[in-house]
Amino acid sequence: MDASDVEGDLVDILFTEAQIKERVGELAKQIEGDYAGQELLIVGVLRGAVMVMADIARALTGHVEMDWMAVSSYGSGTKSSGVVRILKDLDTDITGRHVLIVDEIVDTGLTLSWLTANLASRSAASVEICTLLRKPDALQMQVDVKYVGWDIPNEFVVGYGLDYNERYRNLRDIGTLAPHVYSGE
Ligand code: PRP
Repeated sequence: MDASDVEGDLVDILFTEAQIKERVGELAKQIEGDYAGQELLIVGVLRGAVMVMADIARALTGHVEMDWMAVSSYGSGTKSSGVVRILKDLDTDITGRHVLIVDEIVDTGLTLSWLTANLASRSAASVEICTLLRKPDALQMQVDVKYVGWDIPNEFVVGYGLDYNERYRNLRDIGTLAPHVYSGE
């Protein structure tokens, strides 16, 4: 395994592992309060949501079911095409279920606005979104996000599920990459 200095590729840590843990715990408390007495199905959006799903699920103390979807973000066009294709659908029938989509970031909003409408059309009792990060300045599509960890500036971040060319998802902190990573030096 290449043990080069992965953490050293970060120039700026935005959120440490401890801060993320604390914020995820706060979100879970809020979720528990809002869904008291209801059984929740949390839906993770592969692949970036793996970390936050695992942590949110373990921070919730009641019964919770987990399912996953994989979508190709933008079809064959550019980001702004808004075309979303399902690569892996839910295994669960969500008719009458309270669904909470869990993702690590809302960027343009295209993916989650599409996904929310798609799941709502399956006669779910409710569909809400929980995201760890949101970039208000990048938003192109109105999307109602009920639970947000943090709003961040419109800059490229990695770690805790977020990747650059599939790398850095395994970092425990979230941060920005040093310029040398992009230039390949
Ligand atoms: C990320 C993230 C969201 C989407 C948000 O996934 O998990 O699903 O982008 O971007 P948007 O608001 O501009 O639509 P990505 O396509 O990077 O795939 P990944 O989770 O496999 O990294």
